[in-house]
Amino acid sequence: MYRIKLSQCCVGEEEAGAVADVLRDGYLGCGEYVFAFERALESFFCDNVKVACVSSGTAAIQLALQAIGVKSGDKILVPSITYVASFQAVSAIGATPVACDVDISTGCMNLEDTCRKIDERVKAILYVHYAGGFGDRERMLNLAQNEGVRLIEDAAHSFGSLCNEKLIEERSDVLCFSFDGIKNITCGDGGCIVSNDNDVIDKVRIYRRLGIKETRDVITGECDFEIKDQGWRYHMNNLNAAIGIEQLKKINCFRDKRRRLASIYCSELNSSVVKLLDMDIKQTMPHIFPVLVADGKRNSLREFLFGQGIETGLHYKPNHLLSKFAGDKCPNAEEFGKRVISLPLHVSLSDQSVTEVCWLVNRFLMEGY
Ligand SMILES: Cc1ncc(COP(=O)(O)O)c(C=O)c1O
Repeated sequence: MYRIKLSQCCVGEEEAGAVADVLRDGYLGCGEYVFAFERALESFFCDNVKVACVSSGTAAIQLALQAIGVKSGDKILVPSITYVASFQAVSAIGATPVACDVDISTGCMNLEDTCRKIDERVKAILYVHYAGGFGDRERMLNLAQNEGVRLIEDAAHSFGSLCNEKLIEERSDVLCFSFDGIKNITCGDGGCIVSNDNDVIDKVRIYRRLGIKETRDVITGECDFEIKDQGWRYHMNNLNAAIGIEQLKKINCFRDKRRRLASIYCSELNSSVVKLLDMDIKQTMPHIFPVLVADGKRNSLREFLFGQGIETGLHYKPNHLLSKFAGDKCPNAEEFGKRVISLPLHVSLSDQSVTEVCWLVNRFLMEGY
């Protein structure tokens, strides 16, 4: 339907072959391929971190929060500009997501508003790496540390991005990635929790399998199992893991392509009519390419591009405007939500297509057609 799609996965013969191998092996559940993908991710991050793979990025956030001890009635601070998955993952364990405002320049959580909303019921900040960037993360980490709350990173957009030159920054606590169909690497569906806190990873491995903790009697060798906590059926399966293993091998090529396309947008969009996000493209593996246009022009620009066969996206409607998550006003998030438009970005997109989108966006915003 669209000539130029907003996003698209890039899978080929390698992924098809890996899936066929799993089918031939005959065990499709959580097994060797999942454990191999976890090991591959650990060596990719190569910083003494442990990885637990799960069925989605949403499940990763929910289990990470449960593993740090978040309970029903606790509050979690979440930026209003994020996919609704961040909010639903919090409410799934009975905690209350509290929407915080964002910085217009980055789309990431605003420090002052977050600080204002911390009280004794707040157990964690869920910090979203919006569009693959890190925003005011350093100061947010300081705030979390000073206030004695955990900082969980919703890194669904930032797989492959560098923070302070590293894939996993030293001060990181728990990160949650998504491998859904359009993410920087995909498993079809999937996600993972990354942490150097072994306790978190050990707990996630139990919670993802219905809370089952297996035991073996050291003398008799007899196996048994015990359930102490609420668990879920959130493990990753071998089919998804097999796709992920092949995708991870292509990360450098995917990253170069995404960076190059984003750089073309940065140099060819006219800065007098389009506001780019404040983000260092050379350090980032951009997942989406949101820009801000003048209030009142966004919807007509979308319609114009639709007429040209170009798909665009809205990342995101502010979550505090949804009935379930209604809360305090977040004025920046509301302005951002009205002005933001995401332009096509994926590995199969050509440089020429991006140049064409830039030309059309500039022409529409400057000349009105
Ligand atoms: C910011 C953010 N958080 C969480 C998620 C949830 O990931 P998943 O779709 O794998 O459940 C997404 C997915 O798009 C996302 O964009």
